[in-house]
Amino acid sequence: MVKSSMPRMVAGNGVFYPIIGFASCVAFIYMSFGDLWVNYHKEPELSFVQRNGTHFMVNGRIFYINGWNSYWLMDHAVDEYRRPRIRAMLQAGAKMGLTVCRTWAFNDGAYNALQISPGRYDERVFKALDHVIAEAGQHGIRLLLSLVNNLQAYGGKTQYVQWAWEEGVGLSSSNDSFFYDPSIRHYFKNHVKNLLTRKNTLTGIQYRDDPTIFGWELINEPRCMTDRSGNSLQDWIEEMSTFVKSIDKKHLLTVGLEGFYGPKSPKRLTVNPPGDWAANLGSDFIRNSNLSTIDFASVHIYPDHWFHDQELEEKLKYVYNFTVSHIEDGDKELKKPVMFTEFGLSNLNKGFEPSQRDRFYKVIFDILYRSAKKKKSGAGSFVWQFLVGGMEDYNDDFGIVPWERPSTYRLITEQTCRLAAVQGVLPSQKDHLKELCLRTR
Ligand SMILES: *[C@@H]1O[C@H](CO)[C@@H](O)[C@H](O)[C@H]1NC(C)=O
Ligand SMILES: *[C@@H]1O[C@H](CO)[C@@H](O)[C@H](O)[C@H]1NC(C)=O
Ligand SMILES: *[C@@H]1O[C@H](CO)[C@@H](O)[C@H](O)[C@H]1NC(C)=O
Ligand SMILES: *[C@@H]1O[C@H](CO)[C@@H](O)[C@H](O)[C@H]1NC(C)=O
Repeated sequence: MVKSSMPRMVAGNGVFYPIIGFASCVAFIYMSFGDLWVNYHKEPELSFVQRNGTHFMVNGRIFYINGWNSYWLMDHAVDEYRRPRIRAMLQAGAKMGLTVCRTWAFNDGAYNALQISPGRYDERVFKALDHVIAEAGQHGIRLLLSLVNNLQAYGGKTQYVQWAWEEGVGLSSSNDSFFYDPSIRHYFKNHVKNLLTRKNTLTGIQYRDDPTIFGWELINEPRCMTDRSGNSLQDWIEEMSTFVKSIDKKHLLTVGLEGFYGPKSPKRLTVNPPGDWAANLGSDFIRNSNLSTIDFASVHIYPDHWFHDQELEEKLKYVYNFTVSHIEDGDKELKKPVMFTEFGLSNLNKGFEPSQRDRFYKVIFDILYRSAKKKKSGAGSFVWQFLVGGMEDYNDDFGIVPWERPSTYRLITEQTCRLAAVQGVLPSQKDHLKELCLRTR
């Protein structure tokens, strides 16, 4: 099982302090950050995040990410009365020292749709996305923006297939024709072009030129089960990633995978959740992520979806192996950063208690912290998902309002502070980390 011993930390000035317990850890953080403020150079604006091998780089330094998901930002920014929630969430994230938020830049044909029909947009909703990006920039938060959904929420590939059907150009009504129908591929490329070349009405910056955007994600959780060889999805990723890069070479790009291994990675199949299903989704973590047009890999971790009768302890052991295996792949096979862009524990479990989430998050945070200390490819983690108070309708069985549970809040902010002890403080984090990491708790 994962040990919770407090590891040794490296101070900004290069001195090692052996850490015995929590009290001395607080004292240590106090000492080491004293130095960092002095060495801090003010950066007026965010700069682009780049990749060097298995690392992200920002301002010439390696960048490890404590991030989160709030899928709902654009949707809420449409209506004036819900719009203040965007600022509330981004401000709270910044206060926790978080640096990247993953959110949806798509809403295809659903309520408050961005894309009403292929290539037709609701300017009101585009302005809402402009607002989200501008507001994120003001809080020093970067955005990982997803371009379409594999699932039906907010339209997804089902909506694209329906559009093609309605326009009389669709070849099949199967959802997966999203990946292989030439007309639908054209719809999607057209949308990508419209989005990436959008000029933000608030900042005047085209999205493709805006460093507030951490990077693009082609599709949330792609699966193409009608072609289990994986060739259809691989072709689609190859074509779409090449297309994105032809428009935008400045931003990082990922696929949006859940991280399961497919039949082309036989050695890794035992790491998949029990059963054959995960190998038969038409996706493959290694093969899909290894394309030269893909800058980093992603993984989603949902032990409650993968196991039913196991105790939490058993699930956590499995999660530990799954997470470590993917970081190893980043270092050895892919030579790219690996991000855990979603992980969540369901409150629908029998015997669920909120403290179980702390245990689960801690497994992930500890692995990523250890990876960062050793300069390995584990590059970031994004809790699924954060909300602000009063929006229960947008919650699922995984969401939390982080400041409503002090132990969870502490766990997340400790991750911020220990990553900062490894990599230094980002300009945008400066004010908040002072309060967060110097405070005697
Ligand atoms: C990129 O990584 C390599 C290998 O880790 C390192 O030698 C080099 O200095 C890095 N380049 C930059 C610009 O940081
Ligand atoms: C696929 O499409 C059908 C409707 O044709 C829908 O009921 C189903 O939920 C869709 N599946 C996904 C994953 O979108
Ligand atoms: C990944 O791609 C590189 C170069 O493009 C290739 O040499 C390597 O064999 C590929 N690795 C896997 C596991 O497919
Ligand atoms: C985790 O990996 C180890 C070593 O490969 C293996 O012995 C163990 O059974 C795995 N545990 C789980 C729960 O998958």
